[in-house]
Amino acid sequence: KLVDLAHYSHYMQKEIFEQGSAVANTLEERITNNCMLEIETFEVEAVRILACGTSYYAGMVARIWLESMGIPCEAEIASEFRYRNPVVPDNALVVAISQSGETADTLAALNQASKLGYKYSLAICNSPFSQMTRVTDLVLHTRAGPEISVASTKAFTTQLVSLLLLMIALAKRRAEIVSELRALPSRIEALLQMDKDIAELSDYFADKEHTLFLGRGTHYPIALEGALKLKEISYIHADAYPAGELKHGPLALIDAKTPTIAVAPNNHLLAKLKANIQEVRARGGKLFVFSDSGTPIKSDELIEVIEVVKSGPFTSPIIHTIALQLLAYHVAVTKGNDVDNPRNLAKSVTVE
Ligand code: G6P
Repeated sequence: KLVDLAHYSHYMQKEIFEQGSAVANTLEERITNNCMLEIETFEVEAVRILACGTSYYAGMVARIWLESMGIPCEAEIASEFRYRNPVVPDNALVVAISQSGETADTLAALNQASKLGYKYSLAICNSPFSQMTRVTDLVLHTRAGPEISVASTKAFTTQLVSLLLLMIALAKRRAEIVSELRALPSRIEALLQMDKDIAELSDYFADKEHTLFLGRGTHYPIALEGALKLKEISYIHADAYPAGELKHGPLALIDAKTPTIAVAPNNHLLAKLKANIQEVRARGGKLFVFSDSGTPIKSDELIEVIEVVKSGPFTSPIIHTIALQLLAYHVAVTKGNDVDNPRNLAKSVTVE
C-alpha cells in the first residue's frame, strides 16, 4: 500500500483518527464568503441527491438540512434512481456524493439525471481525478485524503462537512453553520479521546448475533451508518430504524441477547426517543445510549449511557458517527476479523 500505517493497527483505525485534520482540510479557505462562488449564481429551487452505501446516508442527512431551510430536496439510492423517470422540477440541482467517484450506479444515475433534464450538477467527491469529477458542472472535493479501509469513515464525515458548505453557499443559516464548523476539528479530537471507553464495550457485543440501532431526525441516517459499519466489519447483523417505527416491527425482536444502540443527542426529538428507549428496556433489552452533555437519561442495569462531546445541531451527526465508528472498529478487532478487508466487500463497486 502507498499509505503508511504509522503507529496504527489498521487503516480503518488510522482513518478514524485522521478525521479532525480531514475536516480541517476540507474547510480550509472555504468557510469564508467566497465558498463555491459559482453555485451562488445558480438559482437552485430544488435538489436531488444521489449516492450509494455510506455516501447515501450523508445525502439523507443533507436532505433534512436543505428542506428545513426551504429547499425541496430528495435523497435517493443511485441504483434505484437510474431506472426511474421522476418529474424534474425547474432549476433543479443534482448532487452526486461518492468517495471513489467511480461507483457504477452513481455514475449511471448522474447520466439519467442529465437525460431527465436537471439543470445543474455537482459532485461531492474524494477522488480528484475520478470519472465523476469529469461529468458534473461543479465539483466539491472532500479532501479526506486516500481512504484505504473498505469501510468508509473519514470520507463520510467530510461529505457531511461538504454538504454544510453547500448550505452556506446556498446562503442558508450561514453564521450558525460557520461557527459550528470552526469548532468541529477540536470537538472531533475531544471525541477521539473516548476511544478507550468505547473499546471497553466491545466484549459485550462480540458474541451477539443481532443488534438494533435507533435514531430520529438527522440522527436516523447516523443510526443507519452505525449499523452498516457494524455489519460490514464485525459480521453482526445490525438493523437500523427510525425510533418511531419501533412498535411497527423491531420491538418483536428485542430480548436479552439483542442489544439496542440509541443515537440520542440532547435535541428537540429527545423526549420522543426517550420513550422508545423505555419501550426497549421494558422488554428486557440492553441499551447503549450515545447521548451528549445534558441528555437526561441515566445509566442503570439495562441502560448504559455513553456521553459524547456536545456540539451544535449541524455537527452533532458527525460527532455521533465517529463514536459509532469506534464501536464497530473495536468489536471487529475483538472478534479477530480482517478489519480493513471485510469478506465479500469491495472498496469501490465499479460494476452494476
Ligand atoms: C462500497 C464501499 C462503501 C461505499 C460505497 C459507495 O460499498 O464499500 O464504503 O460507501 O461503495 O462508494 P462511493 O465511492 O460511491 O462513495
